Amino acid sequence: MGRAWAKNILSTSHRVELVGWVDVIDGKARQAISELDIDVATNIRDFVSLTEALTVTKPDFVIDVSIPEAHEEVTVTALGYGVAVLGEKPMSVSLASAHRMLAAAAEAQKLYMVSQSRRYDSGLVAFKQAIESLGGVAILTADFFIGAHFGGFRDEMPDVLLKDMAIHTFDAARYLVGAKPLTVYCDSFRVPWSWYSGDESALATFEFENGIRFSYRGSWAAEGHQTEWEACWRAICPRGTVTWDGMGKVIVDKIVGDSGFIRETVKSDWTIDDLPFVGIAGSLNDFLDALEQGTEPMGLCTDNIWSLAMVLYAVESSRLGQKVEIAI
Ligand SMILES: NC(=O)c1ccc[n+]([C@@H]2O[C@H](COP(=O)([O-])OP(=O)(O)OC[C@H]3O[C@@H](n4cnc5c(N)ncnc54)[C@H](O)[C@@H]3O)[C@@H](O)[C@H]2O)c1
Repeated sequence: MGRAWAKNILSTSHRVELVGWVDVIDGKARQAISELDIDVATNIRDFVSLTEALTVTKPDFVIDVSIPEAHEEVTVTALGYGVAVLGEKPMSVSLASAHRMLAAAAEAQKLYMVSQSRRYDSGLVAFKQAIESLGGVAILTADFFIGAHFGGFRDEMPDVLLKDMAIHTFDAARYLVGAKPLTVYCDSFRVPWSWYSGDESALATFEFENGIRFSYRGSWAAEGHQTEWEACWRAICPRGTVTWDGMGKVIVDKIVGDSGFIRETVKSDWTIDDLPFVGIAGSLNDFLDALEQGTEPMGLCTDNIWSLAMVLYAVESSRLGQKVEIAI
């Protein structure tokens, strides 16, 4: 993912310059830099120590693309040097750790934003607008079914679906609902044919403020009839229903009749112009705007902690076998 971020920075060269690359494994950063365009690569220093990189290059900000277990150390160190941070999801591995990161950002009075790159998607933005046109959502559902044969660390990771993937879908649900999650009941489990050692499947129901319910069904061991990585969505609203398959058109089915056993509805597409910055390019653009103009980016740490909380309390609910309250 570090390589994807480097390309993202290089294609935003009118606003940002890549001056250093840190990896704790000696040689890895050097190798990655050597794969870049030679003219650019000669100006990028490689380091194994973040503190040395901060001292030598004096950057305006750090992009943290380390493993989740290292996010706290990287973020708190950079903030301690008075340097803003744009970090990969998930913020961290526990809420206690996330709170220490929030405290470090407050203490340094520097921006710390988490990149939830899947928010920068014209389909998702259109879906949210369509929901609002029907009076807001009361029941939101998301299906995520992909038979993913990664190999590597994910095959051994406990709660792999919830911790490595579902945060994207849960964060998207928060964006769509625009309210706080209050409770979750989750059943996280392995299917009998699973090639994962941790739970690769989960069924979860969240309650948000205003009685809004969000139902999530997901599996990384579901082969055939694959959904999109953005999940397949349905929003039940007072004036009708909106669907989005995560890739194609957002379809609004609006009530037009006021009598009959089944009320008459009319279907239409809800389209918007393509977003200028998609995925991690959207995150970077949002972050740079916030640094330069003081705007509030999506993924601001004090807001993003709620997406992490949805994941961690879903895991806890499954362990306890009961509904739990979500509190940060
Ligand atoms: N937004 C997305 O769609 C998306 C996709 C993939 C990964 N990610 C996220 O990106 C992050 C990295 O994932 P990845 O798949 O690239 O992992 P990876 O294991 O391939 O790479 C992580 C790198 O970080 C290095 N590292 C570990 N600790 C470090 C530290 N303290 N300082 C500097 N470097 C350190 C490792 O040596 C390794 O080279 C994770 O948080 C992951 O969740 C996001």
